[in-house]
Amino acid sequence: MSEKVSLKINGETFDLPIVQGTEQEKAINISSLRAATGGIITIDPGFKNTGSCQSGITFLDGEKGVLRYRGYSIEELAEKADFLEVAFLLIFGELPTLQELNKFHEDIKESSIVDDDIRKILDAFPKAAHPMGILSSLTSALTAFNPSKDQINSINYERSKQALYDNIVMVLGKIPVLVTWTYRKKHGLPLEYGDNNLGYVENILKMMFKKPNKDYVENPVLVKALNKLLILHADHEQNCSTSTVRIVGSSHAGLFASISSGISALWGPLHGGANQAVLEMLESIKEDGGDTKKYMAKAKDKSDPFRLMGFGHRVYKNFDPRAKIIKVAADEVLNDLGVDDPILEIAKALEKEALSDPYFVDRKLYPNVDFYSGIIYRAMGIPVDMFTVMFALGRLPGWIGHWREMRLRKEPIGRPRQVYTGNSYRPFESCRD
Ligand code: ACO
Repeated sequence: MSEKVSLKINGETFDLPIVQGTEQEKAINISSLRAATGGIITIDPGFKNTGSCQSGITFLDGEKGVLRYRGYSIEELAEKADFLEVAFLLIFGELPTLQELNKFHEDIKESSIVDDDIRKILDAFPKAAHPMGILSSLTSALTAFNPSKDQINSINYERSKQALYDNIVMVLGKIPVLVTWTYRKKHGLPLEYGDNNLGYVENILKMMFKKPNKDYVENPVLVKALNKLLILHADHEQNCSTSTVRIVGSSHAGLFASISSGISALWGPLHGGANQAVLEMLESIKEDGGDTKKYMAKAKDKSDPFRLMGFGHRVYKNFDPRAKIIKVAADEVLNDLGVDDPILEIAKALEKEALSDPYFVDRKLYPNVDFYSGIIYRAMGIPVDMFTVMFALGRLPGWIGHWREMRLRKEPIGRPRQVYTGNSYRPFESCRD
């Protein structure tokens, strides 16, 4: 017999079913609550206790520090997989055969041509514009240049299957071009087009770093590092930006429009923008003499708005498994590139102090994925204001996978309720009377 819970309101009992996931996670299904109780809803700001959907894409156990994409552990994927394989896995549910992988890559390459008018839009942005704002705008602009492909008819999915696939490969083909163009424009470099002979990650690096009038020499250390970073960022179940993509898509807005809103959600410093904020924080600690204790005290002082960026996570209350992998990778990449960055030492000192400080221990605050990633990006030659853009590049498969899942499951439009706390009715009195 299926489990249920009983809710007693003013002496009356209501039974609510329990939903159980494949990893034995349980949730009370309240979808009938309002109708059954004559108007009572639940309230949960920040959705700290609310599951917005059932999903078969990513499993994470924040208490045990477990993260799996479609059942495969993040540790194994980061060590052995190729980013495009992981993208295929997240979006379509299974690892690709070699033939499927090659076709996927070919289709992405074919869809990577960006309309020349997009270049004109890029040129119109002021030099000081933040790359995340540019990327979100250009992603939205893609809708205008590909109008017929953008809307997927969820009522008749069979008819829309090809259009959905075309959208997916376009996102994975065009957005890396937009990212690298954004970087090049900011640095006064002529725009570079992709090279169809290169792998997906290799091509991103070439489009970004090729110097004018010089042959491009591939650096395998950078390829390996970027491949790993992209995989580690590829999905993280119902985080702020993914929930945004799902909710925007739930109104049947197209994939480009939904992803553009996901990019905006990712930009904030409490989410993906933390990787930029961490580096800026570490820089200012260094410039202030490297006194980590002073900043630890500021982070704990409730009257000080300063937070230890890159620390804490809504769901990880043990450690973030991605941060463990990235910490090791940061050491490796800096060693391989022969970079001696004093900021890495400041980061390690902060982590050491935080891990033995009761404030952080009691609140279960550990380094998250953003704490060390910026140090690797910086060693790779990527400027600080591009860090969150690199995160967005990695998160594309996750956003696409969730958007697709939401549409295939024919989820209803996302529309939370509220408890109203404003004025009761009052008659209108004009200042003109
Ligand atoms: N530094 C100092 N104190 C912190 C920090 C921090 N980084 N993070 C949380 N706390 C404290 C809070 O002040 C609060 O203390 P209190 O109980 O005494 O009031 C307690 O820990 C719980 O924090 P909340 O903000 O309620 O936790 P929530 O789950 O809402 O927030 C978040 C999680 C946003 C990640 C938070 O830890 C934070 O702001 N961290 C810094 C920003 C950051 O690194 N974001 C990236 C997250 S990873 C990602 O999105 C890719």
